[in-house]
Amino acid sequence: MSRKLFIAGNWKMNLSRARSSDLAAALVEEIGKEAAVDTAVCPPSCYLMTVQQALGVSRIDLGAQNMWYEDQGAYTGEISADMLVDVGCKYVICGHSERRHVIGESDEVINRKVLKALSEGLNPILCVGELLEQRDGGQTMEVIRQQVTRDLEGVGASYAGGTTLADRLTIAYEPVWAIGTGRTATPDQAQEVHAAVRTLIGELYDETLAAELRIQYGGSVKPDNAAALLARPDIDGALVGGASLKAPDFAAIVRAGVELSD
Ligand code: PGA
Repeated sequence: MSRKLFIAGNWKMNLSRARSSDLAAALVEEIGKEAAVDTAVCPPSCYLMTVQQALGVSRIDLGAQNMWYEDQGAYTGEISADMLVDVGCKYVICGHSERRHVIGESDEVINRKVLKALSEGLNPILCVGELLEQRDGGQTMEVIRQQVTRDLEGVGASYAGGTTLADRLTIAYEPVWAIGTGRTATPDQAQEVHAAVRTLIGELYDETLAAELRIQYGGSVKPDNAAALLARPDIDGALVGGASLKAPDFAAIVRAGVELSD
């Protein structure tokens, strides 16, 4: 079973309208025709349309960093799944550690977002990951198992058009201690958790779906460590923060994926 690698850039709360547009244009130039791996960028929500325009007909897809799970109404400051689809988003990040630990999102909220994204035709990138004290306390697998199980509660295996959850969902393993710290999980550490997540998906769904589901690694992925991570059997891509803000760096990570895909 060969899974197509998927490299996504999470721009977080960075850049300006002009710089978002320039970055997207530079990426189109560098990797806009790349077909061997799937690529996406997730700009701040107020720049989604600007970036969508700059991406044009390139192969780089658009994603959002967050959404709310209700259809519409009195949810000041929130954006619905439908609105994200309306401005051209294919993906939405759900449960990023900064939303879990800085904003205080619970697994219950994240679960509702995943369910809503899927029902509205958006493909969720579900982030899970342990804190440093949890890793040091030997609780990594337990934390990941709990997050994945709770966040996927009630999430079905099949979707419209004969697609499966594996076509729609990406899980991103992002150890919190590795995010924005320059301290990457070693390929062995990441592979161990990715394999455990795949086994868990096999238990929650079935072996075929587990074999097809893509699991990205995130946490200080850079051009110089991407190849070693992406070469591991259960690492199917990367969710890139800091390095996705520089076109040459993000392009180099994508190219590392392309080389492994040949
Ligand atoms: P980082 O962020 O690459 O800057 O560590 C990754 C993420 O938070 O998705």
